[in-house]
Amino acid sequence: MQKNLTQTTDFSEQAVFANRVKSLAFDIYGTTPKACVITFGCQQNVNDSERLKGMLCECGYTITDEMEAADFIIFNTCAVREHAEMRVFGNVGMTKHIKAERPNTIVAVCGCMSQQEHIAQKFKRSYPYVDIVMGTHVSHRLPEFIYKRLSGSPRIFELSMDNNTIVEDVPIKRDGTFKGWLPIMYGCNNFCTYCIVPYVRGRERSREPEKILAEFKEMVKNGVKDITLLGQNVNSYGKGCDHGVNFAKLLRMLNEVEGEFVIRFMTSHPKDCTIELLDTIRDCKKVSRHLHLPFQSGSSKILKRMNRYYDRESYLKLIENAKERLDYVDLTSDIIVGFPGETYEDFKETLTLVEKVKFASLFTFIYSKRNGTPAAVMEDNISRAEKGKWFDELLKLQEEIAKENINKYIGNTYRVLCDDFGSRDGYMTGHTNGTAVIEFKADESLLGQFVSVKVLGYENGLYGEII
Ligand code: SAH
Ligand code: SF4
Ligand code: F3S
Repeated sequence: MQKNLTQTTDFSEQAVFANRVKSLAFDIYGTTPKACVITFGCQQNVNDSERLKGMLCECGYTITDEMEAADFIIFNTCAVREHAEMRVFGNVGMTKHIKAERPNTIVAVCGCMSQQEHIAQKFKRSYPYVDIVMGTHVSHRLPEFIYKRLSGSPRIFELSMDNNTIVEDVPIKRDGTFKGWLPIMYGCNNFCTYCIVPYVRGRERSREPEKILAEFKEMVKNGVKDITLLGQNVNSYGKGCDHGVNFAKLLRMLNEVEGEFVIRFMTSHPKDCTIELLDTIRDCKKVSRHLHLPFQSGSSKILKRMNRYYDRESYLKLIENAKERLDYVDLTSDIIVGFPGETYEDFKETLTLVEKVKFASLFTFIYSKRNGTPAAVMEDNISRAEKGKWFDELLKLQEEIAKENINKYIGNTYRVLCDDFGSRDGYMTGHTNGTAVIEFKADESLLGQFVSVKVLGYENGLYGEII
């Protein structure tokens, strides 16, 4: 196996720049400057944005949701599908008039889109009001880039990649109080043929178990009660590292931490979902009973073309094992409709798989061509309209299954984390350690606490009462 060369570095160099920005920005704007972070894409990006906000606070900015009021605007972008990219271009375009009115405003773009050379070039050529474009591997250098730009440096385009380094101790300003994200690894080595992520996020790098444990304990101490471990493929955590901690062992370690909380994780690649992992989920009371296992397609022929390393039979076997070993589990999945070369016959295999497994919910996508990936040059002769029809057929099937699923909750009692106000007056909502959301009569003093709720019925959602 290839040796893991990952090294860890810290934020100290950037902390120096942050201090410099603090005084310089105050001089330029004449008051405490405001920053706005706009996030697209997955939970990884949401967590990265929390670190961008942390760094911006360190630089002396206060955070605002209002782009119009901000002195610094940053777009944290997603490249996974074309639609996501179009939305970003539209949003960045809206900063043109802000810049015209207040030329001191700094506009930056980071995240997965900006890591692509052709996209960075497009910002350079066609969006002259964008000051900073930084790739996914240098986002911790935000204080340095702001300092340089505020001191009059030319526009900054920094896309260099470093596949061997993890930066620890980047300041963070978390969005939520009871729920939080915790990255355990970065990058992806799987190169599914449709996917841009390995190109923009680089190679797999696992954080040291001690660093994860320390952040986890800190979160628990601060009252976070629902913690989601993040990685493109958490099941390959620790591969090639000397510490010998794999994902199952990591879960056991975190499960031992004192306190009442739920440990979630995503995403699990089916190819690395082992019996050891299933048994760990069964044994660890604080680990959620939710497995997000994207299968992408029900056809073995298409799975091979997607480079997914499993086939229909082994996926179904895995599901059978999961259902057998876990008394209760909510299964969810991602599906791509209309991959190049997929016929209606192939697609029907996706439908039959969905029918068989009965997922709690699905994330479904029509295939989107990503330049530079192997699938982009595969022949694709099914029209968009036709793919749209298949897509609707899949949604309809899942709607029926979701209706059937409701019955399995009614009459049962669940331990839920009370985390928000309900849609009915005097009601609150809670999440089970799976994927269900239940409304129940309660007042807001219960926010952030675990309560046991019996599900009584369904009316625009599950409802129940505290017992
Ligand atoms: N690492 C995760 C997925 C990350 S991307 C995993 O392997 O499960 C999230 C989802 O977006 C994928 O599971 C896939 O269903 C979808 N996706 C990725 N690339 C896509 C593309 N080019 N077109 C359509 N959907 C895509
Ligand atoms: Fe993309 Fe596949 Fe990696 Fe997931 S496992 S991020 S779908 S290449
Ligand atoms: Fe998008 Fe990057 Fe996540 S491409 S889905 S933001 S890893």
